[in-house]
Amino acid sequence: MPIMTDAPFLSSPADYAAAVATAVQAATAYYTDGGTPLGDDEYDALLRALATYEEAHPDEVLPDSPSGKVAGGAVQGDVPHSVPMLSLDNVFSAEELESWAAGLERRLGHPVAAWCVEPKLDGLAVAARYRAGRLQQLITRGDGLAGEDITHAADAVLGLPAVLTEPIDVELRGEVLLTSAQFEHANQVRTAHGATPFANPRNGAAGTLRAKDRPYRIELTFFGYGAHGLPGLDHAALLLRLADLGVGTAATTAAHPLRCTTLVEVQQRVEEIAVLRSELPFGIDGVVIKADSSADQQEAGSGSRAPRWAVARKLAAEHKVTRLLDVEWNVGRTGIIAPRAVLEPVVIDGVTVTYATLHNPADITRRDLMIGDRVFVRRAGDVIPRVEAPLVDERTGAEQPIAFPEVCPRCGDAIDREEQRWRCVRGRNCQLVASISYAVGRDQLDIEGLGGTRAVQLVEAGLVTDLADLWTLTREQFLGLERMGETSTDNLLAAIEAARTRPLNRVFCALGVRGTGRTMSRRIATHFGSMAAIRAADADTLAQVDGIGTEKARVIVAELAELAPLLDRLAARGVGTAVTAPQAPASSAVAPDQEDAAAGPLAGAAVVVTGTMTGPLAELTRNEMNELIERAGGKASSSVSKRATLLVAGEKAGSKRAKAEELGIPVSTPEEFAALVADYLA
Ligand code: IVH
Repeated sequence: MPIMTDAPFLSSPADYAAAVATAVQAATAYYTDGGTPLGDDEYDALLRALATYEEAHPDEVLPDSPSGKVAGGAVQGDVPHSVPMLSLDNVFSAEELESWAAGLERRLGHPVAAWCVEPKLDGLAVAARYRAGRLQQLITRGDGLAGEDITHAADAVLGLPAVLTEPIDVELRGEVLLTSAQFEHANQVRTAHGATPFANPRNGAAGTLRAKDRPYRIELTFFGYGAHGLPGLDHAALLLRLADLGVGTAATTAAHPLRCTTLVEVQQRVEEIAVLRSELPFGIDGVVIKADSSADQQEAGSGSRAPRWAVARKLAAEHKVTRLLDVEWNVGRTGIIAPRAVLEPVVIDGVTVTYATLHNPADITRRDLMIGDRVFVRRAGDVIPRVEAPLVDERTGAEQPIAFPEVCPRCGDAIDREEQRWRCVRGRNCQLVASISYAVGRDQLDIEGLGGTRAVQLVEAGLVTDLADLWTLTREQFLGLERMGETSTDNLLAAIEAARTRPLNRVFCALGVRGTGRTMSRRIATHFGSMAAIRAADADTLAQVDGIGTEKARVIVAELAELAPLLDRLAARGVGTAVTAPQAPASSAVAPDQEDAAAGPLAGAAVVVTGTMTGPLAELTRNEMNELIERAGGKASSSVSKRATLLVAGEKAGSKRAKAEELGIPVSTPEEFAALVADYLA
């Protein structure tokens, strides 16, 4: 994954001096409070440009240039390090990594015995001194030679025990960070105390480590990656030893360190960690490749800034800084009024981002955002980009407050502000056309020919005021609509009639209850067996369904109460009343009963589907695939985790396949899978 940002070209001493000034300013912000006016990619590109210029003009090198200095020379401390805390050299592509490795082997005069590949954790380097197994002192990296004493913060750092499992003298080296959960929690606690939220986890970790006498506690996490005082151990063995001592390491995570004997394996592992990145519960900004053998490490030695036996393969930044241009308010299918940030376009990890989610109005207030702000935007993998925080220090005074809507931006009716997410008081009826179109979609009631334009016609003609009206429509009413001939009318009437007996999961899904997509609708239908039983359930009963927490259960109960008149009308028309067990999707055939499913070929299996299906499964939508899995006794899930037992990988399967292979989960082709569940297919 190459870095997208090209290094700026410095053509004159004045350009060079200006670039040094910018880099010093950015390094100072980055290494002291974790904030930065430049994105990581831009900073790296600037340093590369400085290095290129300095190589060509060695006489002009300015003394405060950050290149070649630990922490860009930005920080100093007063506790001397026993052994300097070095930085790492960077490479930015597979080719650069290959030539770095070749250079190291040339220097050694023999091949490297083995490599160790591990995540480059995006936090702050610390040294933790233990005497007789007891934690004595915690120190920041500072300028690499001396750091700041932050022992006061030690007891809030998970993975850094007060007492090791053995009474030894050792100095641990590693990274302190906020995991995603710790970051979210930290910001909740901070806003509850009237403090501004942290812009990002790195900034939060830096602020938390330094802070003293805060009225609240924020937990951090330590991952060890080195030690002084445990000589002779190879790197992978050292990490195991640290874990035995009770110290946190990345070994417990999906991106665990891996010993590789060939460079091909190293490159593969780098790619795997890059793919896993977006799903890791903590930030990484690269992958570190180390010579594993302690003999190789000693032979290679270190320069003044970095060891020669290790290198960081940087990954493109997931964070970027850009400008918030506007906030749009969109009304969703269920009447939710959701804010969306309009951004100055910015490329993050190869994708141009122009919009980002802002969640809800309370979130905007909490993050203290203004139009015109420079903001941190994060995009991780497939996750929707989100605005994390404004760079408050960069405000010019020209920023404008964000205007919140007074009335529903779609229909002009009032807004219900009871919950954090605002809603039009008309709820679904504010978006009747969208609600009907969703309900008749292929994965719900599957009524072909009733797409967007027909739904608009029916609503505008006043023939449909809610979903249940579909089953009251007459032939004459359809024929009265524009561009509606006899054949299409008859086809449509037949499709509407066929939809009356769709299985419970599909009818339930068609209601568009918040938080219940296709998967959840299937689980609810299987659990309760009838619409009457679902309607009779209270929040506690609903919370028994896998994946429904107490909050979601409460929302579902409230929405079902709101939908009661519609549900009564649907029931009166025989829609969603007959079904008591999972059935075949409309486009396939047999419907084995629930006992069959319990004994089916997938009993106890957790199956994930990815890529384009082929062969007998080519026509099935993802929802129909999931229904098939459940009919055959399995559980369909959308993400590959340790719990998954099989991945069905079709054409163009991407990261899920890599992850399944990484976790040792069996992978089958669509054809193999079709053979396995043949009895449950049409
Ligand atoms: S090894 C002498 N391993 O990255 C060994 N560093 O950009 C030097 N870092 O200063 C460090 N994850 O703060 C090492 N797995 C890892 C790391 C790691 C993050 C940090 C560390 C270092 C910085 C260099």
